[in-house]
Amino acid sequence: MQRGVTLWFTGLSGAGKTTVCLEVARLLALRGVKAELLDGDEMRGQLTAGLGFSKEDRRKNTATAAYIARLLTRNGIIVLASFVSPYKSIRESARESIGSFAEVYVCCPLEECARRDVKGLYKKAFSGEIGQFTGVSDPFEPPEAPELVLHTDRETVDQCAARVVEFLETRGYIG
Ligand code: PPS
Ligand code: ADP
Ligand code: MG
Repeated sequence: MQRGVTLWFTGLSGAGKTTVCLEVARLLALRGVKAELLDGDEMRGQLTAGLGFSKEDRRKNTATAAYIARLLTRNGIIVLASFVSPYKSIRESARESIGSFAEVYVCCPLEECARRDVKGLYKKAFSGEIGQFTGVSDPFEPPEAPELVLHTDRETVDQCAARVVEFLETRGYIG
């Protein structure tokens, strides 16, 4: 049994959105649950290529993702959407358009994200080589009432992914 829902993962670059979503997708696949990943980096390499990181471009990028998520969700798919999505208004629009929606705050201190610096972007952001970088030279508005919070500086990837799967179970999205 499964019921469509979009889990919208928001958080700083390097907080662990992609890593947790990939592990959740793996766990769901093992159970035969149909899930789909929508990831900021992936989308920006394809469908929303050409968009930058101004507020308006971020809005267009995430609105495109929300549109796809809505179609998948209404067809019973568990959608794992991972976008920095730093603005409350942008996330609220996604929530309204998708309906069956839960916000997952992938919470990690900026210092730890910068220490990880998975793609070398923080180094460039701190040196000024790239601008409008979330948390450094661009805002991040933390969720006020997320359905789930993952503290990736204190919990392992496995613990975070297990908590997401448990959330899907307790809310009756998967059985
Ligand atoms: S947004 O704000 O939701 O539209 O962003 P998103 O589509 O998730 O894209 C974020 C990824 O783009 C890379 N990147 C940046 N992120 C934030 N700010 C700036 N200026 C920036 N420039 C490039 C980065 O790889 C982000 O992916 P993650 O997975 O978060 O690291
Ligand atoms: P994002 O997609 O949010 O930018 P990534 O998933 O690309 O983040 O990178 C997160 C990094 O942090 C990875 O190198 C991952 O191994 C590490 N990490 C450590 N602990 C965790 C955790 N609990 N959850 C997710 N990632 C973690
Ligand atoms: Mg990512």
